[in-house]
Amino acid sequence: MSNQVTILGIESSCDDTSAAVIRDGLLLSNVIASQSVHEEYGGVVPELASRAHQQNIVPVVKAALDRAGVDKHELSAIAFTRGPGLLGSLLVGTSFAKGLSLGLRCPIIDVNHLHGHVLSHFIRRQPDDEVPTYPFLALLISGGNSQLILVRNYNDMQLLGATIDDAAGEAFDKCAKTMGLPYPGGPHIDRLAKEGDPDRFYFAKPHIEGLNYSFSGLKTSFLYTLRDAVKDDPGFIEANRADLAASLQRTIIEILLDKLDKAVRQTGVSTVAIGGGVSANSGVRQAVADYCAAHSLKAFIPERAFTTDNAAMVAIAGYYKYLDKKFCGYDEVPFARVTV
Ligand code: KG4
Repeated sequence: MSNQVTILGIESSCDDTSAAVIRDGLLLSNVIASQSVHEEYGGVVPELASRAHQQNIVPVVKAALDRAGVDKHELSAIAFTRGPGLLGSLLVGTSFAKGLSLGLRCPIIDVNHLHGHVLSHFIRRQPDDEVPTYPFLALLISGGNSQLILVRNYNDMQLLGATIDDAAGEAFDKCAKTMGLPYPGGPHIDRLAKEGDPDRFYFAKPHIEGLNYSFSGLKTSFLYTLRDAVKDDPGFIEANRADLAASLQRTIIEILLDKLDKAVRQTGVSTVAIGGGVSANSGVRQAVADYCAAHSLKAFIPERAFTTDNAAMVAIAGYYKYLDKKFCGYDEVPFARVTV
C-alpha cells in the first residue's frame, strides 16, 4: 500500500461539472465540462444545470482519472463541493461522491467552495511551484461573493468583510446586460474595456463603513446613466460601448482596491491573493499586481484556469482536510449559502 495521498475532487456548485485528481498536493488532471444550455436564457437555469451535471458527471470523473493515469482504487479520498451553490447542482456532486465512496470503501470529504477558491493558490503543477506563506489576505470575487478573508492557515480563515448586496461579478453581469451584452457579461466588459477610455464616465461609488462591499448603487447609477442618455440618443450605447465598459471596470476596480487597501493596513499582512471568477479580469489582475508592487506586498494572481469553478481547488482543499483526517459522514447534505 503506497503512502501517497491521492484525492479526487468533484465540483458541481453551479454550471460547470468538474473533476480533478491531486496527488501529494500536485495536480495530475483537471477536467471541466461547461454547460452551454443556459446561453439562450441570459443566466443559469438551476433545473437545467442539475440535469446537465447528471449527464456530465460520469464521463468527467472518468476523464479526470484517465488523464491522471490513476485507477479509482488508488484514491485515498473523494472531496466534493458541499456548498455554497445551487442545491440541485450540489446534490448531483454530493450524491455521486457518496455513491463512489461507498463502492470504493474510501472516505469522503466535504469542501466549502469558497475555501477552494482561497486554497487554489496551493495547487502545484511542479514540486517547487511557489505558494503563499501564512498569514495572507484573500480577496475572493465571484458571481456570488465578494469577500475579504484573513487566511492564517488552511484551516483557519477569518471573514473580514463581504458584500452587503450584489457581488462584484453580479455588477459586471447586470451592467453588461443593461448594455445588451450576453451572459455572463464580465468577460465581454473585460474585452471591450481594453479599447475604451476608463475616465470617460463616472458612476456612483458606495460609502460603506468597515470592510464590507456594496455594488448595487453602482448598478443603479450605471442603469440611470444609460437610460437618460438613450432618451436623447438611441444609439448612445452602441456608440460608447468600449468607454462604458472601461469606465465601469475602472469603478469596480476602485471599489475593490479601496477595501483591499484598508484590510492590508488593518491586518499588516505582506501577501495578497485573489480568487474567484472576477479574478480572471485583466484590469483587476493588473490593478492588484500594481497595488502590491507599490506597497512591497507579494501578490498571488491565479492561473485563469483556476479562477472559475474547477475541481482542482476542491481537490486541494480536500487534500488539506485529509491531512487533518477531517472526513464527513453520509448524512451530510449540501448547503446553498455559507461564508468562509
Ligand atoms: O467564480 P465564478 O465562476 O462563479 C461563481 O460565482 O461561483 O464567477 C463567475 C463570475 C461571473 O459573474 C463572470 O461574469 C465573472 O465571474 N467573470 C469575469 C471575467 N471572467 C469571469 N468578470 C470580469 N472579467 C472577466 N474576465
